[in-house]
Amino acid sequence: MNKPTTILSDEHVNILKVIDILSKEVGLLETRKNLDKQFFEKAIRFIKEYADRFHHAKEEDILFFELSKDGVLQHCNPVKQMLYEHDIGRSFVKDAEDAFARNDIGDLCKNARGYCELLQEHIFKEDNILYPMADEALGEGIQSSMLERFGQVTEIKFDEKEWEF
Ligand SMILES: [Fe+2]
Ligand SMILES: [Fe+2]
Repeated sequence: MNKPTTILSDEHVNILKVIDILSKEVGLLETRKNLDKQFFEKAIRFIKEYADRFHHAKEEDILFFELSKDGVLQHCNPVKQMLYEHDIGRSFVKDAEDAFARNDIGDLCKNARGYCELLQEHIFKEDNILYPMADEALGEGIQSSMLERFGQVTEIKFDEKEWEF
């Protein structure tokens, strides 16, 4: 049986691919100050649609929801911190979009870089701490019901062509 956390980790691989390209592009923008509008529009769209509306929503509505039930995690529950990081990520994206609209390159770089660094660390924590905890804490019945609920989320496929940069 596929585990819900395996599906989420596979999505992390796609998100990290785009974040890697985005950080390189921010590095270039910081030195040559020449804004590739199409690239940034596409990267912001990917982050909002795939990373946030698709991946984060699944974590929040299904995985975190299950982990927050009484008695599931005995000692520490990192869900609050993960939710907080999702929110910081959203505000970086909002500020990056505003900076993009104003053509403020410095502010765009600052917020895009903040987002990339936050998400790299966030994903590392989920892959190495939260997901293994979830695998252990959630029984097989709950995991298969989570898979069913994952199946009900309108899937955004990571189409390499569509998200080619
Ligand atoms: Fe997350
Ligand atoms: Fe995640």
